[in-house]
Amino acid sequence: MPDSVKPAETSSAIHRIEELRNALHQHNYRYYVLDDPDLSDAEYDRMMRELKELEAAHPELASPDSPTSRVGAAPLDKFDTVAHSIPMLSLDNGFDDNDILDFDKRVKRHLDSEEPILYTAEPKLDGVAVELVYEAGRLIMASTRGDGMTGEVITSNVRTIRSVPLLLHEQVSRLEVRGEVFISLEGFKRLNEDRLNRGLSLFANPRNAAAGSLRQLNPRITARRPLEIFFYGVGHMTDPLSESHWGTLQVLKRLGFRINPLIRAEIPIEETLDYHREMNDKRHTLAYDIDGMVIKLDSLSLQDRLGEKSRSPRWAIAYKFQAIQETTRVLDIDVQVGRTGALTPVAHLDPVSIGGVTVSRATLHNEDEIRRKDIRIGDTVLVQRAGDVIPEVVKVIESSRTGQEKIFTMPATCPVCEAEVFREKDEAVARCNHIGCPAQVKARIRHFASKGAFDMDGMGSKLIEQMVDKGLLSSYADIFSLDKATVQSLERMGAKSAQNLMNAIEKSKAIPLGRFIYALGIRHVGENVATILADQFQNMENLSSASTEALEAIEGIGPEIAESVRHFFDQNQNRQTVRRILDAGVRIFQEKKPEKRSLEGKVFVLTGTFEGMTRSETKKMIEGAGGKVTNTVSRNTNYLVAGESPGSKLDKAKKSGVEVIDRQSLLQMVRDA
Ligand code: IVH
Repeated sequence: MPDSVKPAETSSAIHRIEELRNALHQHNYRYYVLDDPDLSDAEYDRMMRELKELEAAHPELASPDSPTSRVGAAPLDKFDTVAHSIPMLSLDNGFDDNDILDFDKRVKRHLDSEEPILYTAEPKLDGVAVELVYEAGRLIMASTRGDGMTGEVITSNVRTIRSVPLLLHEQVSRLEVRGEVFISLEGFKRLNEDRLNRGLSLFANPRNAAAGSLRQLNPRITARRPLEIFFYGVGHMTDPLSESHWGTLQVLKRLGFRINPLIRAEIPIEETLDYHREMNDKRHTLAYDIDGMVIKLDSLSLQDRLGEKSRSPRWAIAYKFQAIQETTRVLDIDVQVGRTGALTPVAHLDPVSIGGVTVSRATLHNEDEIRRKDIRIGDTVLVQRAGDVIPEVVKVIESSRTGQEKIFTMPATCPVCEAEVFREKDEAVARCNHIGCPAQVKARIRHFASKGAFDMDGMGSKLIEQMVDKGLLSSYADIFSLDKATVQSLERMGAKSAQNLMNAIEKSKAIPLGRFIYALGIRHVGENVATILADQFQNMENLSSASTEALEAIEGIGPEIAESVRHFFDQNQNRQTVRRILDAGVRIFQEKKPEKRSLEGKVFVLTGTFEGMTRSETKKMIEGAGGKVTNTVSRNTNYLVAGESPGSKLDKAKKSGVEVIDRQSLLQMVRDA
C-alpha cells in the first residue's frame, strides 16, 4: 500500500517508529562504540517502552532490525550449520620475548626484507569467536567458529547482544566481521549469584558462561545473559575497507562496531614486548579476562604475501600471559550440601601454589561435569585459578594414570542427613530435599546472619556449626533466643566475645525490610528481588499474604519467583518462623529514600577535558544528582561546564547567554542539596 493511501494514524506511527528506532540505534552506538552516551537510562527506557507499545499496536511494522528485537526471538529445535567463506583460523602461541622476536625474524625472512615492520597489538580476549555477516548494512547472519571451516548459525542469539549493531552507519554491500563474544567479570559474578539464589548449577568461568549462553536454543534466555563483544577483524568482503589492519579496525568502528580501546596501533616489534608487560600488569584491573596479546602484521598486502599455514596465519601470533594453572593430585572427592539442598562435588587437592595462592580445593560443579572431564580420585589434574573465581579442574592428565584411580559416584543419599537425593529431569543439580538437613540448616543460618542480610558480626561459620551440632539452633529464628551464658559455654568463647556477639545480635534487630526478606533465603529471591518486594509491599504482613498473581504483576518478578515466594509463605512452619523473629523484637525501618537531588531538573552541556575525571564519569555524577546532560547548547541548557581546551560549545554558550561554570563550581553544586 503506497504511503499516500495509508490511514493517517498508521503513517504517523511509521514515522514515529522510524524515529525511535534511529534514536535508539544511535544511542547504542554512542554507548557501546564511542563510550560517550548522551541519553540517560531513564530516557532510553522510556523510548524503548514507547517503541514496544507502537510495535505491539502495529504488528505489520515489526522488523528484525528493531532495537526491541533484542529481547529474543522464538526458540529453535536445533542449530543449522554454515560453511565460513574464509576459514576461521587459530593462532600460533608464543610464551616469552624470544618466541616473539623469532616470529618477527620469520616474518622478515619470508618477506625477504630487512625493513622495519609495523605490527598492531591487541588484547586477546578469552571468549567465543564468532562471525557476523552484514548485507546492505543489515545483520543477516551470525555463526560460531566451530571447527574453523563450518560453524553453527546463532543469529537470533547474537542479535540479543546489545553491543552488536543490527544496522550499520553505511550500507557496505557485503561484510563479514569477526570478533570475540565474552562476559565481563562483573557480569559473570552477577550471573552466578543469580544462579546460586535460584539453586542452579554455577558456571565455572566467564568463558564457559559466554559459550553456554551463545549455544542456547531459546534466544530469550541468551537475551538475559550479560554478553558483550569486541570485533577484531574481517572475513570475506566485496571491497577491502583499508590497506592496513589498523585502518580496517578504524573503518569498522565508524560503521558501528565496538573495537577494544586498548589496541596499540602500528608499532615495531620491540614495543609489542613492552606493551605485553604493560598489559600483564594491568590485566587484573580490567573488567574482563584476557589470556594474552595478539600481534598482527599491520599491512594487509604483506599479510597476503605471507599467507597461511594449515591452521594459522604466518602474519600473526598470540603472546600468551603466564597461565595461572598448575598440576596436582585429586586426593579425594566429597560432596557439599548448600542452602537449597544442592549437592556440589568438591575435589580435595594436594595443596599447590597457583599465582601466589595456595589451592587445596576445587569445585567440580556437578556429576555431569565430572563425567565429561572424566575426573577420578587419584588423578593428576590441571587446576586453574582466575581472579577471585573459585579454582577449577581444567582437565585430567591422562598420561599420569596408574590404573589405581577410583571413579566417583554421586551418593544416592545426602552425605549429611542421609535423606534420599533427587535429581530433576532437566537439572544438572542433585538435591537433598530434607528441609531439616543440618547442612542446609547451617547454610541457611549463615545466609541469615551474612552481610547483605542481618549482618551479625561474629556469627561465623565455625560458631554456627557448633551451635547447630549442639542443638542450640535448628532454625535462624533460634538465634534471637540465645543467651550469653550459653554462648559463653561454647568452644573458643570468652566472656568478652560472647558479649560482643549478643550485642551484634541485638544491633541487627533494626533492619530494612528488603534485607529481612533476603535473609529468609527464599529460593530465587536475591538482594535485588528482595528490594523490589520490600518497595512494593512495605511490610511482612502484606508480602506473606500476596497472591501469586499480585506478585507476578510486579515489574521484575517472574512466575518462578512469584511461585517460590507464595510457596514459602504457604508453609505454616515458615510463617511461624517469621512470626517468632518479629516477636523477638526485630524492628523493620524504612531505608532512607535518596534525599532531594541537588541538580534535579537542570540541563548541562560538557565541553573540554576535566582533570581527574573523565567525561563519562562527570556525566554519571551529574545524572546521579538528578541532572541531565545533553550534547548541544540550546535554549534548554542551564549550564555549560567548561574544562581544559573547551570547544566551540563555549562560544555558543556565551553567545546564547548560557551560564558557564568550571568543574569546581559543578562539584559545589552537587554537594549543596
Ligand atoms: S585474530 C587469524 N584477534 O583467539 C587470526 N583473535 O587462537 C585469528 N581471539 O579464535 C584471530 N582476541 O577467538 C584475533 N584480538 C584478537 C583476538 C582473537 C581473541 C581469539 C579468537 C581466535 C583465537 C585464536
